[in-house]
Amino acid sequence: MSRTLVICKPDAVERGLTGEILYRLERKGLRLVAAELVVIEAETARRHYAEHEARPFFTELVAFITRSPSLVAVVEGPGEDTWQVVRTLMGPTDPAQAPPGTIRGDLGLLLAENLVHGSDSAQSADREVALFFPSLA
Ligand code: RTP
Ligand code: MG
Repeated sequence: MSRTLVICKPDAVERGLTGEILYRLERKGLRLVAAELVVIEAETARRHYAEHEARPFFTELVAFITRSPSLVAVVEGPGEDTWQVVRTLMGPTDPAQAPPGTIRGDLGLLLAENLVHGSDSAQSADREVALFFPSLA
């Protein structure tokens, strides 16, 4: 079994797509372990996206992810690669390039508003679950 962090980003909450996104994850067979609707604090967002600190889009990224509530969740699956299962369901970063059948490919158009976050490795999953849900660490 392994766990990973999923964020239905502000655009997903604003557009009423959290149910659709969680539905897809649950229908795949992943189990919801924790979920919270919360406006992410700027400091938490900066820590979450620390790998992108030097990138030109960092300020815009933090402003976006903190602008209104996100649905932050932890999901669990039977294998060691739950983070990868979620990333496959999400599709590539740019929704305009993401294939149909994926969350981003079916529901989005904008790189900056790509609906969903999923941890990008087992190590990231552990770090991000601990950041948002310390009691699960
Ligand atoms: P996320 O972390 O949000 O799940 O997305 P990701 O792994 O697919 O993509 P990542 O490379 O981690 O980038 C984080 C977010 O930054 C925005 N981005 N903007 N302007 C740009 O060139 C650019 N590149 C990335 C995206 O919104 C991406 O989700
Ligand atoms: Mg990422």
